[in-house]
Amino acid sequence: MKKRDYTPLLADLAEAYARHSPKSRAIHERAEEVLVDGGSHSLRLIEPFPPRVVSARGAYITDEDGHSILDFWQGHLANILGHNPSVVTAMLARALEEGVGLQTGFSDRLQAETAEILCKQTGAERVRFTTSGTLATMYTIILSRAFTGRDLVMKVGGGWHGAQPWALKGVDYHTNSENGFQRIESGGVPLAVVDKVIVSGFNDPERLREHFREHGDRLACFIVEPFLGAGGFKAASLEYLQTARELCHQYGAVLIFDEVISGFRFCAGSAGSLYGVQPDLATFGKIVGGGMPQAAVAGRADIMNLAGRQSGSKVRFSGGTYSGHPGSLLAAKTLMTYLVEHEAEIYPYLAKTGQRAREMATAIFEEEGIWARCTGDGGDVLPGSSLFMIHFPYDKDTELERPEDWSDPTNCDVILSHKVLDLALLLEDVFLSRSHGALTVAHTEADLDRLGDAFRSAARRIRKYR
Ligand SMILES: Cc1ncc(COP(=O)(O)O)c(C=O)c1O
Repeated sequence: MKKRDYTPLLADLAEAYARHSPKSRAIHERAEEVLVDGGSHSLRLIEPFPPRVVSARGAYITDEDGHSILDFWQGHLANILGHNPSVVTAMLARALEEGVGLQTGFSDRLQAETAEILCKQTGAERVRFTTSGTLATMYTIILSRAFTGRDLVMKVGGGWHGAQPWALKGVDYHTNSENGFQRIESGGVPLAVVDKVIVSGFNDPERLREHFREHGDRLACFIVEPFLGAGGFKAASLEYLQTARELCHQYGAVLIFDEVISGFRFCAGSAGSLYGVQPDLATFGKIVGGGMPQAAVAGRADIMNLAGRQSGSKVRFSGGTYSGHPGSLLAAKTLMTYLVEHEAEIYPYLAKTGQRAREMATAIFEEEGIWARCTGDGGDVLPGSSLFMIHFPYDKDTELERPEDWSDPTNCDVILSHKVLDLALLLEDVFLSRSHGALTVAHTEADLDRLGDAFRSAARRIRKYR
């Protein structure tokens, strides 16, 4: 497959989309006057403008132009039952009627009940709630530094842990950077912090050993996703996570699993438990929040208690006006309880539909003359996966094993996967974000047929320009 200049195709797609969605476009123009780029999360602000949503239910969103859009983005992969599932909305509606839901600023029974579920399902001893995955990962790192008295933090290239100082290095691939993943990703980040961040390679146990040999005695923590999310939808190998566990133990560093994506995605609990590898600390968010801004840090009591009175609140993990918000906790508890009770039906269904989506994407694009590969399967350990990410390698035999493989624009057609496909699919009223998506319980086999049809139409539209 050759490199293409997509300028004419993108211009034609943008023009067709502007005709397709005039109301969303008008609202976007208005939004740009008061919001940076017209919104508050860059991933949502697809170019030339995003569909503006008026309502969402199950597998579908309805936009301002009246389109019913089949959605695989599902709230940044948070909505495992689909949009606004009645199991959660009915509970919230009833609670609001009874005076439970908005902020109280008090502690309640819900906090204890929700934390009990998290501990039971993930093997953690203590939990503290916060409002975003970003804050959760930041607190795990502060806790680790205080616990070990050390200053270095290690993460992996392609690992996304939110935009907090210790995580803003080695997120995106840069062709002129060592291993592609060594850059500082934001202005304004204190260099004294970023200089303490070491970037290792995902699923590369040998490199991990080297990094520990070199820095192990100064390492406060190693933070890693058991299933790499934004960096490419790849399950860690068992050997890799076991090696990480052993090395952290050997060198006295804290092992952090960032389970903001993987938590309750592959089972009603942590991915770590499926690997049989227990981290010292873990972060949860997305699915766990039941559609509300709810996140958690969970882990060993001796580390977590650094945030508590017992240690003189050595770590100031204590603020957050909206931490432990009653409405969010009610949604979180309701959803997690539902997932635990229906685990045996939900996860096999998600695994089956996920597999079909991945197979369909590869097959349909290839039938239309475009080589495609999907990541997102559960690998050797996870029992199945509802996630899929489509990549377009230039060479049909390219192995897609590590983030470098699919992020390097000389290896894979990243303009096609990051820009062109999303827009081409939107014209079919199907939404993927940067060619990745998630199945939910709300997606039916008929929805998958529709996804397949959309892949085919998009492929044909793209092929005309290749
Ligand atoms: C693995 C991972 N960690 C942390 C975060 C940050 O979470 P939030 O966006 O809730 O701040 C994300 C968000 O996508 C994530 O995927």
